Amino acid sequence: MTTSTPLTQDELKALVGQAALRYIVPGDIVGVGTGSTVNKFIDALATVKDQVRGAVSSSVASTERLRAIGIAVLDANEVEQLGVYIDGADEIDGQGHMVKGGGAALTREKIVAALARQFVCIADESKLVDTLGRFPLPVEVIPMATAHVARRFAALGGQATLRLKDGQPLVTDNGQHILDVTGLQITDPLALESEINQWPGVVTVGIFAHQKAQVCLLGTAQGVKTLNF
Ligand code: 5RP
Repeated sequence: MTTSTPLTQDELKALVGQAALRYIVPGDIVGVGTGSTVNKFIDALATVKDQVRGAVSSSVASTERLRAIGIAVLDANEVEQLGVYIDGADEIDGQGHMVKGGGAALTREKIVAALARQFVCIADESKLVDTLGRFPLPVEVIPMATAHVARRFAALGGQATLRLKDGQPLVTDNGQHILDVTGLQITDPLALESEINQWPGVVTVGIFAHQKAQVCLLGTAQGVKTLNF
């Protein structure tokens, strides 16, 4: 009798990265997200790179990886529409609403997602939740608004912490800062995203409800599950 060892989180990420290839239409320009799961997708993309015309990327890090495997990266302004945007998530619920921004790329992720007809989320099963809010909610803010935005979260029962890197405030690809907010139960993601979007100084809130996923490829112990929303 053979016993199989369970797949590691890294192996689950590789599995969904590979599975995402089936959403790419030959000759397409593909939208590419950011993070360790997307890095697995980029590795898989390298094996079919001649089938894609290019990519629009959501971060400097993904752009560098795409260029390293010989994929042309286009400016988002050069592209009117993308067939598909493939990205990870920090959390995804049963309706395809997500929390994103753990890699600080949320603003560009929302922009590239907005260009795409279909958002395909790739994630291991640890990311699937009943209610968003366990993962600290990332919010990109203009530095002079940080304290004000933190007070507005406190009024909602949340605790906002400035994200640091090497002891200094992390600076995003857009030159802004990130607040990570704990203590929120995001029971109405659409309404909360709309509300936070109105606050002065908020560049992007990491709730992706207005731009939710249409598909989630979820890496599980039983293989890749496809969730359609
Ligand atoms: C980056 C993101 C990522 O998609 C999210 O953090 C998931 O990352 P990973 O695949 O490394 O778990 O939103 O801003």
